Amino acid sequence: MMRFLLTCHVFLFLSITPLLSEDFITKMEYAKMLYSNPRGIGCNKCHGEKGEGSIISQYQHKGKMVALEAPNITNVPKERFFQALTSQHKVMPTYFLTWQEIDSLYYYVSSEVKK
Ligand code: HEC
Repeated sequence: MMRFLLTCHVFLFLSITPLLSEDFITKMEYAKMLYSNPRGIGCNKCHGEKGEGSIISQYQHKGKMVALEAPNITNVPKERFFQALTSQHKVMPTYFLTWQEIDSLYYYVSSEVKK
């Protein structure tokens, strides 16, 4: 009986450990991770580390300098943010993210603004 209880205990401990360790990463840490690794090119590669936007590339076209820019996304209204992540664009890739993932990304870039 004692041995049985002991085995159960160890088993229980092992099975809850992964759940516990998930708690060690905060909502913000998760959102930041997703922002740089959203199952596709990281948002940070184009929109900058905090969504501030960046110049992806600059080139000459018909004698004029043209800049290819990723916009600042820190002040985009939530609806437009969701719209942008569920539609196709010319430059920005199409992502296949869940509603919760988009919500986390929104949380990440919009929280940074308030700091
Ligand atoms: C290859 C570069 C690139 C990557 C990677 C990228 N974007 Fe974009 N994003 C753009 C560009 C450029 C635009 C402007 C629309 C266009 O021309 O595609 C844009 C537009 C947007 C907009 C709309 C902004 C507005 O004012 O309406 C949002 C929101 C956005 N991106 C969020 C993201 C998020 C979140 C990710 C990561 C999941 C991401 N982008 C990844 C380049 C990129």
